[in-house]
Amino acid sequence: MNRPVLEGLPLNTPAYVKHDRLVAWVGDIAALTEAADVYWCDGSDAEYQRLTAQLVAAGTLQKLNAARRPGSFLARSDPGDVARVEDRTFICSERQEDAGPTNHWMAPAEMRALLQSGDEALFRGAMRGRTMYVVPFSMGPLGSPIAHIGIELTDSPYVAVSMRVMTRMGRPVYDVLGEGGDFVPCVHTVGAPLVAGQKDVPWPCNPTKYIVHYPETREIWSYGSGYGGNALLGKKCLALRIASTMGRAQGWLAEHMLILGVTDPEGRKYHIAAAFPSACGKTNFSMLVPPAGYPGWKVTTIGDDIAWIKPGQDGRLYAINPEAGYFGVAPGTNEHTNPNCMASLTENVIFTNVALTDDGDVWWEGMTDELPAHLIDWQGRDWTPALAREQGEGGKLRPAAHPNARFTVASTNNPVLDPEWDNPAGVAIDAFVFGGRRSTTVPLVTEARNWTEGVYMAATMGSETTAAAAGQQGVVRRDPFAMLPFCGYNMAEHFQHWLDLGERLQAQGAPLPRIYCVNWFRKGADGKFVWPGYGENMRVLEWMLGRLQGRADGAENVFGVSPRYEDLRWDGLAFTREQYASVIGIDKAAWQQELVLHAEHFARLAHKLPAELPAAMKRIEAALAA
Ligand code: GTP
Ligand code: SPV
Ligand code: MN
Repeated sequence: MNRPVLEGLPLNTPAYVKHDRLVAWVGDIAALTEAADVYWCDGSDAEYQRLTAQLVAAGTLQKLNAARRPGSFLARSDPGDVARVEDRTFICSERQEDAGPTNHWMAPAEMRALLQSGDEALFRGAMRGRTMYVVPFSMGPLGSPIAHIGIELTDSPYVAVSMRVMTRMGRPVYDVLGEGGDFVPCVHTVGAPLVAGQKDVPWPCNPTKYIVHYPETREIWSYGSGYGGNALLGKKCLALRIASTMGRAQGWLAEHMLILGVTDPEGRKYHIAAAFPSACGKTNFSMLVPPAGYPGWKVTTIGDDIAWIKPGQDGRLYAINPEAGYFGVAPGTNEHTNPNCMASLTENVIFTNVALTDDGDVWWEGMTDELPAHLIDWQGRDWTPALAREQGEGGKLRPAAHPNARFTVASTNNPVLDPEWDNPAGVAIDAFVFGGRRSTTVPLVTEARNWTEGVYMAATMGSETTAAAAGQQGVVRRDPFAMLPFCGYNMAEHFQHWLDLGERLQAQGAPLPRIYCVNWFRKGADGKFVWPGYGENMRVLEWMLGRLQGRADGAENVFGVSPRYEDLRWDGLAFTREQYASVIGIDKAAWQQELVLHAEHFARLAHKLPAELPAAMKRIEAALAA
C-alpha cells in the first residue's frame, strides 16, 4: 500500500493500517496539498517526546523549568491567531435552511471550489515544504459503541501533540477501524506553504481562515489557524458541530456542557450536566471544591466542555465526555478560584499564550495577588508592572497573558477525576444547568417548573461575549444552549429536538432531569461581582439536590422557582439578605426589556421555531404584567 502520490513521495503507510479507503484519501490530500512528507502518528510516548523536541528546536515550544513545571511547554501563537473565528466558521449543508439563521452558510459545491477543486483552491499546495501528520483519534473510549473516530490530516506538529493530550490518539484506532470502519475525515492546514529554502516561523498561520463543516457527508476542512477549536478538529468541529447533526438524526444530544458528579455526606451521588458559554465557568464548576461549611461533600469531574448524551433503555439520559483532556482558560485560575485545576497543571502541560517568569515558569492575570516584578509576555516582550501601566488601556494594565491563554492537559492529571469518567455507559444525568454571563437581570438560580420551561430558559439564554472568540467582548448576545457557535444545524430545530426528546422520555415514565438556569455574574453598583462564585457555587448545587430529593423549598417567580434567602445554607459565608436580594431579585422593567430581546431572538428563528416557546414567553409576559 506504499503507493507514491507525487513523484518521489512515498505515503509511508505503516503495515498496521489496513483501510484502503483511508489510505487513498491520505494520498489524495497529500497530492492536493503537495505535502513534502507524510508521517503517521502512532500516539506513543516516544513519539510525543520526539515531536515536542522538534517543536522546541523549531521555536514553537519552549521547555519550561523542569524543576518547577516538569514535562511542560510554552507556546506563543501569532498575535492574529488567538481564538476561535466564528465569522469564518461555516456549515455547508445542501440547503441553507438546514444550517439555519445563526450559522454562516455556503453551498457545498461553492465551498469545495474555493477550498479544494478550483484553480486557485486554498488547499492546493497549502502544505508545500511541510510534513503532513496523519492523526488517528477516538472521541469517546476506544472501541466503545458510542465513540466516533476521526482522522485529522494536519501540517501542524503542535496540533498533532495537542491531539494526543485532548483525545485518545494513536495506533489502536486503526485496530478499531479495521479494513472499512467509518471515520470523520478532518483536513487541517495552517495555510503557510514554504517555498524552497524559506525559513519557517514559530507559529505559521494565514490571515485568511476557513473553518468548514459538511454535515451531510460528515467532513471537516480547516484553513489558516493553528489555535484551539479552529485546529484541534476533534473538539468543536467533530464532537459538537458534526456530532450535533448526528445526534439530531439518531435521537441523542451533543452539547457544550461540563459533566460533574456530586456526592453528599450520606454517600448519595448525583450527576449534573451544565452548559455555560465559552469562558463562562465550565472548567471551574466541573472541578468545584466545596467550601468549609460542606464537610463530607465531594465534586468529581467527568468532563469540562463537551457532553454526548443518549437515552438509555430505562428512559434516563446517560452522558459521556468524548474528550480525554482539557483545553482550559488560564487567566483567572488560581489556588482560591480552582485549586483542583491548579493541581492538574503541575506537570506535563502545554501552555499557550501565557506569560513566562524569570525562573522559567508560567504566570497569568489572576494567578497571584502580587504581580511578578518581571515577565516575558505572551508576545515575547518584556513586561513589568510599570511598563504594563504605561501601555495599558482604559486604566488597566496591559495583560501579560492573552485573555484567551489556555492550558492543554490530560484529564488524568485532575486529582478529582470521577472514577466513571471513562465508562462507555456514561453517567445518568439528574439535572441540566444553563448559565450565562449577565451583569444584570438574570437571577442566581431558577428551577424550571417543567421540561418546556427549561427548554425555554436554555433557548433564550443570553451572555456577554468573552475572549474565547475573536470579536467585540462584553456585549450581550443570545447564546441558546451555549451552542450558538457549535450547533451544526438549524438552531430552531435544536429546540424542537430537545422538546421531542423530553416527550419521548416522559412517555417512558422515568423521571426527567430537572432544568436550572444560573447566573454567577451579577454586578453591584461598584461594578464588582456580588456573588462570590467558584467554591461557593456549592450552595446553589446543594439547593438543586435538595429540590431533586423533594426537601428544598423556594418561591415562584415569573419564570420558575428560586430559593429564598432562608432556603440556602450559609454556614461559613458572610452574605447578607441585602446582597442576596441583589443577585436573586427580578427587576420588572429589566425583564420587560429582556423579553423584547427574547421576542427578537424568536423572530430571527421563526422558521421551524416550536410553538411551545413563544407560548411560554406569553406566559412570562402575562405573569410580569400581573
Ligand atoms: P471554555 O473552555 O471556553 O468553553 O470555557 P469554560 O466555560 O470552561 O470557562 P472556565 O471555567 O475556564 O472559566 C473562564 C472564566 O470564568 C475564568 O476567568 C474564571 O475565573 C471565570 N469564572 C468561573 N467561574 C466563576 C464564578 O463562579 N464566578 C466568577 N465571577 N467568575 C467565574
Ligand atoms: C470554547 O471556546 O468554548 C473552548 C475553547 O472550549 S476552543 O477549543 O478554542 O473552542
Ligand atoms: Mn468550550
